[in-house]
Amino acid sequence: MKKASIIIDKEFIVSQLDERIYGSFIEHLGRAVYEGIYQPGQKTADDQGLRQDVIDLVRELNVPIVRYPGGNFVSGFHWEDSVGPKEERPAKVDLAWSVIESNQFGLNEFTDWAKKANTNVMMAVNLGTRGPEDAKNVLEYCNFAGGTYYSDLRKKHGYEAPHDIKLWCLGNEMDGPWQMGHKTAAEYGRIAAETGRMMKMLDPSIELVACGSSNLEMPTFAQWEATVLDECYDQVDYLSLHQYYQNADHNTPEFLASSVGMDQFISSVVSICDYVQAKKRGKKKINLSFDEWNVWYHSIEPDKKLEKWVQAPHQLEDVYNFEDALLIGSLLITLLRHSDRVKIACLAQLVNVIAPIMTSDTGAWRQTIFYPFFHASNYARGTVLHTLVKSPVYDSRYGDAPYLDSVLVMNEEEETLTLLAVNKSLDEDMEVSCDLRQFAGYQIVEHIVMSHDDMNAVNTEADPDQVKPVVGGISRIEDGKLTAVLGKHSWNVIRMKK
Ligand code: AHR
Repeated sequence: MKKASIIIDKEFIVSQLDERIYGSFIEHLGRAVYEGIYQPGQKTADDQGLRQDVIDLVRELNVPIVRYPGGNFVSGFHWEDSVGPKEERPAKVDLAWSVIESNQFGLNEFTDWAKKANTNVMMAVNLGTRGPEDAKNVLEYCNFAGGTYYSDLRKKHGYEAPHDIKLWCLGNEMDGPWQMGHKTAAEYGRIAAETGRMMKMLDPSIELVACGSSNLEMPTFAQWEATVLDECYDQVDYLSLHQYYQNADHNTPEFLASSVGMDQFISSVVSICDYVQAKKRGKKKINLSFDEWNVWYHSIEPDKKLEKWVQAPHQLEDVYNFEDALLIGSLLITLLRHSDRVKIACLAQLVNVIAPIMTSDTGAWRQTIFYPFFHASNYARGTVLHTLVKSPVYDSRYGDAPYLDSVLVMNEEEETLTLLAVNKSLDEDMEVSCDLRQFAGYQIVEHIVMSHDDMNAVNTEADPDQVKPVVGGISRIEDGKLTAVLGKHSWNVIRMKK
């Protein structure tokens, strides 16, 4: 049995958690919108065509913010096409995903859906084929009270009150050659600065996210971040990170070590933000919005065979297995450990497209990755403590990878403690201890465990409960010391309460 220990002190605080770290993402892509959240006539759909079965699962996940409408899609998006009477909305080609977009679901419907799903909108503007003027117009449509062309247009469309959207992305992955209207860092930085300036002139209460690199492998990574921020430091509040992880070569230990990669990625981007702040003698800290993260690789080969120029194809429909869920748990832990700077994060995406929730015409079900997200989002809210993990390690492409990933979140109001932990060892259980004498009177409420003998086990509509958590892990608190046994390759949630 492996042994590890965790050291915490209730005064050693990483952050008061910004709940937006549990955000997600809906793009006009594949069946995320059509047949995902919107399917008129489906048996659970309401009078707006919004699927209640999906809304129920999104509410269960407790997602405080959802990014919309892209993604790559936004770089060619004409938002005006998506509002007003449906019969007048044009169908258009979407070059990002080689499909046809009917525009039967749009901006206003998404704000209605967000209310029903108990979430908020994080809106992206098109800085690919469009620019500052259009971004100002959509903001005016959404947030201006009335008496102007665009705000009155919103009212004419049936939305008297402003949507009051507080968080806006200045484009998407603008460094990517696949992106419509992609740019050099200097070009994008200038446009982001001018767009941000105009948007904040109109509504100073909003916050803005500038595009960082599309992923860590981009050849311009780091220089891109520094140049972009140099241009738009004064206008923006956050810099974005995107990263998808894969196990295409079936090397599970390496795959599970990806959380070390995420950890290093975040630290690098924090350094760049602080470098630009120092260079500018700035007061403002630029925080991070990790607004696309997930596992994505299962669907890449099958998607190459998809027919083009159809509507809502089965695109990016990764069927997640047990080891994917284990990594999602580790990635969540990593994000929380960096919550002093990562204020926003979006699991990409939410429904059908690389998503925790899947649908068919007849039902909706939870993929394996649903569960770690559900546990963290529902139980790990409050104050994140510095969690010193002393664990045996293994060698990986990122350097030493600890077998144990863990973080402890304290909620003083509710007098709860939640320990999230992944044992990455494929063949050994692990005994973990933690001195909790500062938390006198705390008892274990439950120790939830998710594991499976088959790392490739999946949940499907026919068999939706192949991989799911159970209560019954081995843990106890005695004389102020927590001792837990984490089974080999397992996700653990130890919930404690005074
Ligand atoms: O989430 C799928 C796609 O991944 C997004 O559209 C894009 O931003 C990223 O490359």
